[in-house]
Amino acid sequence: MKKVTALLLSMAMGMCLLAGCGSASTGESESSTAAAESGITTVTEGTLTMATNAYFPPYEYYEGSEIVGIDAEIAAAVAEKLGLELKIEDMEFDSIITAVQTGKADMGLAGMTVTDERKQMINFTDTYAEGIQSVIVKEDSDIANVPDDLTGKKIGVQLSTTGDIYATEEFGKDNVEQFNKGNDAVAALVAGKIDAVIIDNQPAISYVGANEGLKILDTSYATEEYAACISKDNEALLEAVNGALAELKEDGTIQGILDKYIK
Ligand code: ARG
Repeated sequence: MKKVTALLLSMAMGMCLLAGCGSASTGESESSTAAAESGITTVTEGTLTMATNAYFPPYEYYEGSEIVGIDAEIAAAVAEKLGLELKIEDMEFDSIITAVQTGKADMGLAGMTVTDERKQMINFTDTYAEGIQSVIVKEDSDIANVPDDLTGKKIGVQLSTTGDIYATEEFGKDNVEQFNKGNDAVAALVAGKIDAVIIDNQPAISYVGANEGLKILDTSYATEEYAACISKDNEALLEAVNGALAELKEDGTIQGILDKYIK
């Protein structure tokens, strides 16, 4: 069964076009998890190793020493369906695709947007959630209209995210400051070192809730689809994960997890 997921774009901004992310994701979806028994191979036998960057609430973040969030729970549910033990590896967002490509992890799950560039490197599963690029500014900021008011401003982003790609294309490298973690970009904004942060809407809501004096601009930047990424060399795992995701969508598990974290 072929499933085409539409990637909606915010035409008002037109930035997605520049970033070349106006694609649709295609995935083979076999509604059976029998693949578990029929021998899917993983990096460590019996274990589903997930690569993520755990500074992206509510998708993945630390609660004490434990990584929790939407992606952590979806991965746990997928692993259970496949009869595997879940192991989560936290790394820079920038390293996730390489970790999957080089066999350090089975699957990247990190609120990762489906883009054409990334599809050259890895396979994406069917999508499980949607994100919107948002702009965070200080409450008293003179930035009101996006993108016009952002011209010439210092914009903070998380390295190699779609926010980084759009901002760099639209406003130029000199106006963009790349941070390893979304939190670091927000901290720089709070400290007055930069003028705005471009980041996905749900983390934006979390950060604005956790820091005084920040607000999210109404303008939604670009709407994106999130999916897990898996090595192009592991088609069997891709099919098995898509099968598990289909079942978890069907029985309401995924919606339940999303509703738990997104009010
Ligand atoms: N959706 C954006 C992208 O794919 C940002 C994802 C950042 N995720 C994270 N876990 N830090 O580029």
